[in-house]
Amino acid sequence: MNFHDLRVNADRLHASIEEMAQIGVTNNGGVTRLALSEEDRRARDLLKQWMIDAGMSVKIDDFGNMTGRREGTAPLAPAMTGSHLDSVRRGGKWDGALGVLGPLEIVRLLNEHDIQTARPIEIVNFTSEEGSRFEPAMIASGAVAGVFSREFVHSRVDQNGVSFGDALQQIGYAGEAENRPLHAAAFIELHNEQNPLLDDADLPVGIVEGIRGITWWNVAVTGESDNGPTPMTHRRDALAAAAEIVVGVREIAQQTGDGATGLVGRLRNEPDLVNVIPSKVVFSVDFRHQELRVIDQMIGQLHELIDTVKERHGVEIEAEQLWLSEPTPFDSTVVQAVEDACQSSGIPAMRLWSGPGHDAKYMQAVCPSAMIFVRSHRGKSHSEDEFSAPDDVEASVNALLHSVLAIASQP
Ligand code: CO
Repeated sequence: MNFHDLRVNADRLHASIEEMAQIGVTNNGGVTRLALSEEDRRARDLLKQWMIDAGMSVKIDDFGNMTGRREGTAPLAPAMTGSHLDSVRRGGKWDGALGVLGPLEIVRLLNEHDIQTARPIEIVNFTSEEGSRFEPAMIASGAVAGVFSREFVHSRVDQNGVSFGDALQQIGYAGEAENRPLHAAAFIELHNEQNPLLDDADLPVGIVEGIRGITWWNVAVTGESDNGPTPMTHRRDALAAAAEIVVGVREIAQQTGDGATGLVGRLRNEPDLVNVIPSKVVFSVDFRHQELRVIDQMIGQLHELIDTVKERHGVEIEAEQLWLSEPTPFDSTVVQAVEDACQSSGIPAMRLWSGPGHDAKYMQAVCPSAMIFVRSHRGKSHSEDEFSAPDDVEASVNALLHSVLAIASQP
C-alpha cells in the first residue's frame, strides 16, 4: 500500500466519538464533562482502556495529564498529539474529544496495517483545558510549560470550595511529576475551529499558524450627576462620553482589518436612573490580533480617542490594562509539515490563526507545535449546537495522520 493512500477508518472514528459523547450527555445531545468530575473520571477510564487495548502504555502526571505511548523503532523523542476530554457546561462532543480520539484512531490504524514508525507516538489528554470548574483555562498544559506552579494549580478551588488537588485524588488520577508530557520532537493538536472562517471559505480543514493575542482593558469614565432638565451646555455626562468610546472600539477594529476584533462586552452605569445624568460608567475593552504590534497600535488609537472624548465631554477617564496574552506563532516547520500532509493527501485546507486559546499555545513553549482545525458549522462551539460534519472530521483526522507520520518517520 502506498503510504499517501492510507486513510483512517471513519466508522470506527465516529463510533468512538459517539461513545465518548455518551459520558455526560445532555438532553439536547451536548456534553457536560467538567474537569475532574465523575464524568471526567469515566471518560478517562474509557480512554485508558482504549489505549491499553491499542497496545499503548499509559502514564499519569502530577496534574492528571494522561499520556498514551506507542513505541517507535528508534530511541528518539516522540511525535506528540492530543487535546482534552473535559468540557464546558452543555458543550459539544467534538471540542477537545476529537483531538484525543482522532489520534487514537491513528494508532489503531497503524496497528491494523502493522506500520512501525521510527519515533514513538504519544497521545495526551490534558486536564482541565476549559477552565469551567477550575480557573484559569489550559491550566495543566500551562503547568507543564512552567507558566503555573504545582502549588498554584493544586490550590485552585471550584465554586464548592473543592481544590484541584483534592478532586484529582478523588478520581484517582494523581500521578508523578516525571510523567509530564515534555521532551517531544513536536506537538500537533487537532481541534474544532470554534470560529466561522473555514465555514465561510467552504473548506473542511485549517492549518493553524498560531494563536491570536488578546488584551483586556478596563475604562472608567467619571462625569457629574445632575437632574434631567440641566441644560445641554452644562453637562458632564459619563454615559454619553462612554458611548462614543464604545462605538470607537468597534471602528478601530474595523479600520485595522486583517482579522482584528474589538469588543465592549461589559458596562456598568451609575446611578442608572431614568431622570439623572450618569456620573460614572465603567466598561471593558477586548482587542485581538495575531501581531502584538497591531494590538499595541489599536490601544494607541483607543488612548487618542479617550483624549478627544475627555475634552469634548469635560469628563475624567482612566484606562488600565487588565490582561495581555501575547500572540503565539506556531513553529513554521511543523506548520509546513501539516500543510504538506494536506497537499500530499489531497485534503482541501487553508492557513489561518486561532481566536480561542488551546493547550498547544503552552506546548509551543515546550516543543515545536502546530494545530489542525476542522470546520465548525457556523463557527458554533461551547454550545449544544456545536457541529462538525462527519466527512470534515474524517478529513481532519487524515490530515493529522499524515502530519504525525511525517514527524514520526524523521530520524
Ligand atoms: Co477545546
